[in-house]
Order: sequence, then C-alpha cells, then structure tokens
Amino acid sequence: MTAATSGPLSCRRKGPLRGALSVPGDKSVSHRALLFGALSTGETRVTGLLDAEDVHSTRKAVEALGATVRVEGPEVVVTPPEKLREPGDVIDCGNSGTSLRLLTGVLSGIPGLSVLTGDASLRRRPVRRVIDPLRKMGANLSARDGDRLPPVVVRGGSLRGAEHVLAVASAQVKSACLLAGLFAEGETSVIEPERSRDHTERMLRGMGVPVRTDGLTVSVSAARPRGGRVDVPGDISSAAFFLCGAAALPGSEVTVRGMGTNPTRTGLLDVLAAMGARVTLAGEREVAGEPRADVTVAAAELRGTEIRGSLVPRLIDELPVVMVMATQARGRTVIRDAKELRVKESDRLAAMGETLAAAGAKIELFEDGCAIEGPTPLRGVTVRTRLDHRIAMSMAIAQLFTGGDEVILDDVACVATSFPSFFDLLDSVSGEKR
Ligand code: S3P
Repeated sequence: MTAATSGPLSCRRKGPLRGALSVPGDKSVSHRALLFGALSTGETRVTGLLDAEDVHSTRKAVEALGATVRVEGPEVVVTPPEKLREPGDVIDCGNSGTSLRLLTGVLSGIPGLSVLTGDASLRRRPVRRVIDPLRKMGANLSARDGDRLPPVVVRGGSLRGAEHVLAVASAQVKSACLLAGLFAEGETSVIEPERSRDHTERMLRGMGVPVRTDGLTVSVSAARPRGGRVDVPGDISSAAFFLCGAAALPGSEVTVRGMGTNPTRTGLLDVLAAMGARVTLAGEREVAGEPRADVTVAAAELRGTEIRGSLVPRLIDELPVVMVMATQARGRTVIRDAKELRVKESDRLAAMGETLAAAGAKIELFEDGCAIEGPTPLRGVTVRTRLDHRIAMSMAIAQLFTGGDEVILDDVACVATSFPSFFDLLDSVSGEKR
C-alpha cells in the first residue's frame, strides 16, 4: 500500500522499529544552497538536496529572481543571473517560513518591488521580527496587520550595515540580517541570546564570504559568495521521528545513515542520552563544512528529563516528537523556554498538548513549554494536523505506543512540505503496515 499524499490517513502500525535507513537532505541546508547559489558569482552544485515542497518554494523564488536551477544526474545545479532582478509576480512561499524570512533579507537589497506570501499557516506567522531589523538597515518594508503578518511587501534599495540584538534566538532572523548585510554599506552584526543553527555562517564561508563569529555575535560586510559545492547531510529533524520512536519502543534499534550532526542541531542526541536511550555514532566525518555520522539509537527504559535554555534552539523542531517520547519515559519531563513553538507551522504546544491529552497522556501546558508525566499507554485519537507536517509525523509515531489502536491524521498533505517519503520509510522499519 502506498502512503496517502493528501486527505485523511489512518495509522495502525505496531513496533518495534528495526533497521537502517537514510533520511532526505536537511531542509535548512537545502534552502540555503539554492538561495546562496542564486546570490553567487559562479555556479553551485548541490548533492542530496531535499526534494520537498518547502524547498520547491525556494527554488521557484530564486528562479523568479533570474537564477536557473537544473537537475544533472545526482546534482542540482544553480546558475546565478548576472544581476538578481525584480520578480515579475508575487512570490508564494507556501508553508515555508525559512523561504519567506530569508528572502525578505535578500529582497531588501535588490532594487525593485517584491511581495511575499504563503499558505494559511504561513500567513499566521510573525514577520515583524525580520521587518524591524531590516528597516534599521534602511530597507523599505511593510506587512499585513500592522506589519505583523504576511504578505510582506519589500521595496529593495540601498542598505547600510547595523548591529542587531535579537530578543529570541532565531536562525531565520539572523540569516535575513546577514543576507541583507551582504548588500549593505558597512558592517552588519547579529547578537543572539542563545546560539541558533549556524548553517548560514558555515555555507557562506564555504562560498568565500568572510563571516566573523565572536561568542554569540556574527558579522558580515558587503560581499558576493562565489558558489561552489554543497553536499546536504541527512536531516536530523526528519531522523528524529525514527530515533525517538526507537528509543521508547521496546525491542527497537534504528540506524540513520549520513545524518547531519552539526552541534547547533544535535540537542536531540543529548536529550536521548539524558533520558537513558542507547545512542552510538559511527563513521563521523565532515563533508563540505557540515559534520555527519551514522547514528544508531536502541530502546531502553527511558526516564524524564529537563529541556531548557541553550538546549532549546538546538532541538526546537524536534520537540513535538520529544513530547511523544516523554509520554513513555518514567517520571517528569519538563520543557521550558520554548515559547517559539507557538509560532511555528502551528502553535505546536497547543496542538501537541491537546492531541496528546486526548490520547491519554498526562500533560500540563505552560506559556513556554510543558510538563509530561510518564509512562502512560496512549490510545487511538483523531488528529487535526493544522497544516503542520511535524504534528502529523509526531502523531504517526505516537500511534506506535497505543498497542495497535488507530490514529487518524485528518490531512497528511502537509507531510510533503519536508518529508514526502516519511510513511514509506516508517513502513520499512516497522513490523506492520498501516
Ligand atoms: C530554520 C530555523 C528555525 C527552525 C526552522 C528552520 C532555518 O527557526 O525552526 O524550521 O532554516 O533557519 P528559527 O528561525 O526560529 O531559528
């Protein structure tokens, strides 16, 4: 049976999860490969690019700016235009916050008018966080609802460098500022409260741009990347569903080959170890500036843990499935400092809180996190996926802890934004089919 790609889906698998798999390319790195390639002086050749809707949104956007993107065997080749041009139409970023936020930074430096919009989920996500700093650099921007929500209108022009002190750790905001900084006169610095993922810094450096990092401060001056080669590692945010499922489901052992292990992204591995899962890394290597390894997680009796502070940006996208895993751990798991979860593709604290409670979990919600008391067996439930891929996939994993009950995902179209092969891969490592 092939997985449904849209509409409702009934999940009825049984564990354990066993086997080795590769997950698709990292979404953050894939967006950047296309976008930085389009800004470059020379060609960029990308292997392992994620083939999913969010990355298609970035591809269409860079094509609208004059870049060409073509597939050549195992590579995707980005050829930049002589000069990026004003797009001829509204740019639709679909479900992708990364596309919209990073493009807002780039478009601020391109003379002309651009309008960025997205689907119903993206049009509920905050953009003032990029508008305010970019205005400080001289950009002319506005957005709906008092500059709060997309669509965003950008009138690009000359920019000046500025120092930005961010209120929240956000790689999207940091990257938008740094990308605008590539077009600005003088230096642009971003100071974060905690370190967010540093793919932008690594990849720009790999393309010849001097990016200076000093503690939590990152700075750039005007430059044009030169392009080059990008090899995209497997996405830890996609691997997380299998790793968390395997950690908590007795008898499981799963290996994810070639998974990205950039330390700004591996908070999940720290949490798995702290909860008592058996985690081993083999074949550790760095390719094109990004570390990766073959990561094996084997089931164990899990115990509750605390997740807060600087750990949070290092696993922010994995928290929905960590919440699922926490329902199976002995004792209390507490997540704090994670208010950002409320402004992702959905309000993930509310979504997971409601859904896990309906499935029988003991969960208390806070404004910035939650506490989960375990272990509790889960029961079947109907899930409103809310245009949020990670809610859908997390609850497909939760179903494994129901002892065979049915979990109905009301609409799984969202899964194609980041991980179109998710259900097939889950079938390949789980004992039973849907
Ligand atoms: C991303 C950064 C993160 C993450 C998102 C992708 C990126 O958001 O949640 O899925 O590629 O820069 P923040 O901007 O909140 O760090």
